[in-house]
Amino acid sequence: MSSRSIPEPRAIIIGCGVAGIVLSARLKTQLGFNNFVVFEREQSIGGTWYLNTYPGVGCDVDSHLYSFSFNLNPDWSKRFAEQGEILSYLNDTVDKFGIRPHVTTGVEVIGANWNEKKWVWQVELRTLETGHTFIREAEILVSCVGTISIPADINIPNHENFNGTIWHSARWNHKYDLKGKTVAVIGNGCSAAQLVPHVVKEAAKVFQFQRSAQWINDRPNSNFSTLQKFCFRYIPLYNKLYRFWLWKKTDGLHTLYQSETQASVRARSEATQVAKDYMKRMAPAKYHDILIPKFPLGCKRRIFDPGYLEVLHSENIELTTEPIVEFTETGVRTSQRDIDIDVAIMSTGFKIQEFLSPIKITGRQNITLNEHWNNTQGAQAYKATFVSGFPNFGIVFGPNAFPAHNSVIYTNEVQVEFLIKSMFRPILRGDFAVIDVKQAAENVDVNQVQSKLKSMVWSSGCANWNLDKSGRNTTNYPEETWRFWYSLYWPVWKDFNIYRDKGSRPWHPVWKVFGGVTAAGIIAQVLLASGKFGQAGLEKAMELVKGIR
Ligand SMILES: Cc1cc2nc3c(=O)[nH]c(=O)nc-3n(C[C@H](O)[C@H](O)[C@H](O)COP(=O)(O)OP(=O)(O)OC[C@H]3O[C@@H](n4cnc5c(N)ncnc54)[C@H](O)[C@@H]3O)c2cc1C
Ligand SMILES: NC(=O)c1ccc[n+]([C@@H]2O[C@H](COP(=O)([O-])OP(=O)(O)OC[C@H]3O[C@@H](n4cnc5c(N)ncnc54)[C@H](OP(=O)(O)O)[C@@H]3O)[C@@H](O)[C@H]2O)c1
Repeated sequence: MSSRSIPEPRAIIIGCGVAGIVLSARLKTQLGFNNFVVFEREQSIGGTWYLNTYPGVGCDVDSHLYSFSFNLNPDWSKRFAEQGEILSYLNDTVDKFGIRPHVTTGVEVIGANWNEKKWVWQVELRTLETGHTFIREAEILVSCVGTISIPADINIPNHENFNGTIWHSARWNHKYDLKGKTVAVIGNGCSAAQLVPHVVKEAAKVFQFQRSAQWINDRPNSNFSTLQKFCFRYIPLYNKLYRFWLWKKTDGLHTLYQSETQASVRARSEATQVAKDYMKRMAPAKYHDILIPKFPLGCKRRIFDPGYLEVLHSENIELTTEPIVEFTETGVRTSQRDIDIDVAIMSTGFKIQEFLSPIKITGRQNITLNEHWNNTQGAQAYKATFVSGFPNFGIVFGPNAFPAHNSVIYTNEVQVEFLIKSMFRPILRGDFAVIDVKQAAENVDVNQVQSKLKSMVWSSGCANWNLDKSGRNTTNYPEETWRFWYSLYWPVWKDFNIYRDKGSRPWHPVWKVFGGVTAAGIIAQVLLASGKFGQAGLEKAMELVKGIR
């Protein structure tokens, strides 16, 4: 590799959802670094929360936990906030941290090539409005494109023959008035559960098509009182402690996803009974058989009920497990009958297994990310963040970064901290110019993750979006989020190939303290031994210690 001549490194961030916002905020506040651009395909920031606007959309993790640690929000209106409030919060954060001037919207990253001679990423971009393509260079490239973002293609034959209207729940058609219409909702995941109660209120008739059952849990969603909001805002540390308590409590749910210990099997069995009782209590008896799953709780993403089961009592909804064979000109043909409909709402999920694949990322030796992942037999990344052969490139919320039981904002923040410690800070300080994880280190880390995943509930036999075609779990992190934090807390430098290396590395904080205390002890001993230990000697020792730290 040759050396580069550009004085201040540049960075390009792809995507301005939660992850892009965290990274931008941290670069500015922690490193005072401003030489970066965020390219965002959509017309505005927010990612998931900009794109998903179906009625009823909201978070299913407590809002105070589904928040940035560096910008807590005392004003959350309720326990599980809805999309509009979350999007406003993301916009407020972007403005508060001066991120907006860094964001170029309406521009899609279509490819990126690592230039080995110049040690830069050459990023190919397209302005969506004009189709104009252009190249930008940067020493550092980070993908923040999310995982649950590209709607799945319509998987039912002859949809092009249908004369009615079709849309995906993640791209809601706000121009269409559902009043008096006959609607098919296809799918019954978290999105469908949130939107069905609203569609039932509007439409004349709703047919909901269920392929597999889902475990559905109670979700009491209370408003925060003025007093609570006052406490969050004005009592020092109250909001922080509340968030910490929520995080710790939520992390405890991880035990439901394990199969190894008796304690976790017992916990899951108890939680299963609670969910079963809830579903039987809330849903009409005629649906109990088809609604209650035969597979273990947690195997599919659990649904926290936004009023879905209750709405199944409405006269204008029919839940059916009849498979849809094809679309007709006037509706859908199931295995049993033809049903005329005006609208089909595809709530059929996302292309989760594709990760970054729509973007052609070409690393060293001209190998693309997709080729690399073909060679490794599935998407994978070292500590969910780095991929061997793709220098100075990081991924936030990529392979095996998804906590099934906790907040993605938390894990996105953990990954951003890791990127700052291992890549941004040392490169900006000039400690080294290029960092690339070793293939062996990537394999060892991924094998550990995969071997832990084998005993987890996602592999217990249901169809879910966590597993790829070969049955490998490419999405979940197998442990509690505190372990994710610990595993990514400090870079293991021997796992990386490092170029133009000055040999200096940031000290691990523990070693900093340890080094400081040891140095203080040695200096004190020396001064004592030389009989010079007085006030002046002590002060001198303290100065020396400060210098070391
Ligand atoms: C309806 C819904 C509800 C959810 N609720 C929760 C919840 O309650 N709790 C939870 O923890 N998680 C939840 N999630 C998961 C959610 O995706 C994450 O919490 C989080 O929003 C992910 O943020 P992100 O920035 O990583 O990705 P995203 O929010 O997906 O943002 C990615 C951004 O990258 C942009 N982008 C993609 N490709 C390109 C490209 N080639 N060029 C330029 N820009 C590009 C996209 O336009 C988008 O703005 C939910 C997901 C959905 C779909
Ligand atoms: N905060 C929240 O509450 C919230 C809300 C929405 C989304 N999310 C996140 O986003 C993820 C995706 O949720 P999602 O509901 O959009 O997608 P999803 O969980 O992947 O659900 C898609 C549903 O469509 C069904 N389906 C697909 N093709 C079908 C067909 N031809 N006929 C009938 N049914 C069909 C699937 O059935 P099978 O199960 O048989 O495959 C599944 O029930 C969630 O798991 C969650 O992480 C969270």
